[in-house]
Amino acid sequence: MTALFFLNLLIIQYAVITCLDYDGWLNIKIDHSINCKGEKFCNRGNVSLKSIRAGNALIDQIPFTTEHIDELKNIAALDGFYTLRTLVTTADSKETEFLSSIKAQAFLQNALSDVISAWVMPNGEVIAVTFQVSNSSHSILLEKEAEYNLSSNFYLRYVDQAPVEAREKGELKDNRSFLAKYWMYIVPIAIFVMISGASNPEGAAPASR
Ligand SMILES: *[C@@H]1O[C@H](CO)[C@@H](O)[C@H](O)[C@H]1NC(C)=O
Ligand SMILES: *[C@@H]1O[C@H](CO)[C@@H](O)[C@H](O)[C@H]1NC(C)=O
Ligand SMILES: *[C@@H]1O[C@H](CO)[C@@H](O)[C@H](O)[C@H]1NC(C)=O
Ligand SMILES: *[C@@H]1O[C@H](CO)[C@@H](O)[C@H](O)[C@H]1NC(C)=O
Repeated sequence: MTALFFLNLLIIQYAVITCLDYDGWLNIKIDHSINCKGEKFCNRGNVSLKSIRAGNALIDQIPFTTEHIDELKNIAALDGFYTLRTLVTTADSKETEFLSSIKAQAFLQNALSDVISAWVMPNGEVIAVTFQVSNSSHSILLEKEAEYNLSSNFYLRYVDQAPVEAREKGELKDNRSFLAKYWMYIVPIAIFVMISGASNPEGAAPASR
């Protein structure tokens, strides 16, 4: 009975662990390509997470000014793209850079609303950051304000399986020992065996002495 209960507990914990076996902080610096005073990219804001597992993100973005809006309108007139560059830093990886772009026209028509997604591997590695315009009924094409707030939603998206090429590379590099690779399978089995042994001591046949 007890053993069964423990096994259940282990399986439940397992489901959580295998979803993401890594935790740590994550920082995403968002740069964009408008109103940068001669530079190619300048800062639009940051997304920071204290814990990837908990997933709560703090989004801090600089409001757009009329200069930003005018530049976006110029790009929109040519049906062009608004380009974003993200720099991702985590506790144990170097800075990784991703580029993404969205239609300037759509971004204006939906009141600067977008969805930012960070695609995370089970080991906590971020393999992409993407932007999509989200659907808002509000348009700022005709508005005139001193400042325009950005409205962004951030999501972590868990990637179950690496693309084939990446997985093959990963396997080539994975020269850890058998125990280092499979401890998470071995430990629960060992505990289960220990528990079922302990809860059933008479079961162990008295050895003839
Ligand atoms: C984002 O982070 C960078 C570098 O850490 C910092 O220079 C910048 O001021 C931050 N931007 C915002 C809007 O907090
Ligand atoms: C946005 O929502 C409206 C109404 O709900 C729908 O008609 C439209 O197709 C949506 N647009 C996009 C890009 O999802
Ligand atoms: C933008 O956001 C700030 C702080 O959340 C708020 O005080 C301000 O009224 C907002 N501006 C507009 C134009 O919505
Ligand atoms: C795995 O191999 C790399 C180089 O091929 C080496 O630097 C690293 O120390 C090895 N790791 C282990 C755990 O053997």
